[in-house]
Amino acid sequence: MSDNENWIKTYAVSDIDDEDVKEFQLPNGNKIAVYNINNTFYATDLFCTHEKVSLCEGFIDGDSIECPLHQGVFKISTGEVLESPPTEGLKTYITKIEENYIFVNVS
Ligand code: FES
Repeated sequence: MSDNENWIKTYAVSDIDDEDVKEFQLPNGNKIAVYNINNTFYATDLFCTHEKVSLCEGFIDGDSIECPLHQGVFKISTGEVLESPPTEGLKTYITKIEENYIFVNVS
């Protein structure tokens, strides 16, 4: 894959409100969560690593996302576990903004 093919165009910057998160399906079928935290955009895998629950249904508090099922908490910017029960961190993706669109690097 060339570097260009690694960047996937997701939402327009204006599509995601501050402190909000939206689900996005990658071309390979994997689902991710795209977050706006104070106008910085982040992306992680969609599902909690504890059970297959969408983190888009969870609660954002600053740079953390709380899973809606057992209240596990992940740091959005790094994917690390801040509160159990999850033990495995979330995969995170590098993002960039181009022409007001959020791109996610899937390399
Ligand atoms: S499913 Fe997310 S904390 Fe259990």
